[in-house]
Amino acid sequence: MSLSVKDLQKAADEALSAIEGAPDLDALKQVKIEFIGDKSALAKASQSLGTLPQDERAEFGKVVGAQRSKVSSAFEARLLVLEAERDERALVEERVDVTLPGRKILKGGLHPLTILTNEISDLFIGLGYRVAEGPELESEWLNFDALNIPADHPARTMQDTFFVEPLDARLVMRTHTSPVQVRTMLENQPPIYVICPGRTYRADELDATHTPVFSQVEGLVVDRGITMADLKGTLDHFARAMFGPEVKTRLRPSFFPFTEPSAEVDFFFNGRWIEWGGCGMVNQKVLRSAGIDTDIYSGFAFGMGLERTLMVRHGITDMHDIVEGDLRFSQAFGLGAK
Ligand code: DAH
Repeated sequence: MSLSVKDLQKAADEALSAIEGAPDLDALKQVKIEFIGDKSALAKASQSLGTLPQDERAEFGKVVGAQRSKVSSAFEARLLVLEAERDERALVEERVDVTLPGRKILKGGLHPLTILTNEISDLFIGLGYRVAEGPELESEWLNFDALNIPADHPARTMQDTFFVEPLDARLVMRTHTSPVQVRTMLENQPPIYVICPGRTYRADELDATHTPVFSQVEGLVVDRGITMADLKGTLDHFARAMFGPEVKTRLRPSFFPFTEPSAEVDFFFNGRWIEWGGCGMVNQKVLRSAGIDTDIYSGFAFGMGLERTLMVRHGITDMHDIVEGDLRFSQAFGLGAK
């Protein structure tokens, strides 16, 4: 095959206009294959130079060379333009606005009740107590009988207690943390110094001041020579740690089957007396049913609600805030999103 000078001219012009018309780098790549690559008319003309007679070869060679270099410089120039355009577009598309505020990363946080529980545990550990735990699904015997709460006691009725089926298994969702007292006494010899924080259950409707799942902390001390003065001193120390050094406490006579004598403990906060929990000297019947020699040992116990403690201390007026798990509530205690 041989091309005339005119054909060459025409092939080169076609190549030039294809190069100029290539809208992007992909199109330019195709143009290169078609008009510059080995199979292009111009490349073939170059390859065929060898077949020409000597005298034509030099002259035709010059023309081929000139056209090819014109095409390849047009190609290089277009390549630079399209590459610059591509880079420009990438810069715009991938632009990062370093002045935008960072995206907040939510770190896990502790619920305010957990924070309070930890704080109370630390306080009592500092006094030499141990933290004891018991199951939330508890035997009716430990929850009631062993605490001297007789079978006809109103707390046992269906309205207060969640009985768990099958009923003859005699299991309940514990209605207080007091069964952990009995568990502790059955498993340990005095001296006993424990607190038992944990979840408790009663068949109440959730409203601003009640929740069917709530939390208590129980305290139990059994040792030689324990008196009510030890109980009062311990409660004073506890109350000051919770509500500030100025807080006052008082004991009001009361009744609990598992303590004798029994009292309600109140504290004076923001100008009024607030009920905090129950307490008393552990009833000798309870000590004896746990195998403790009441000629040698005596003890005190107390139990209070953690939700109530949290509500008073932080001015929380609605129980829903504590139980519903809205992060904004936890965050107000300094935990959660940072
Ligand atoms: N268990 C009682 C309740 O839930 C609270 C209580 C009262 C606990 C007196 C005690 C105590 O340890 O001594 O109402």
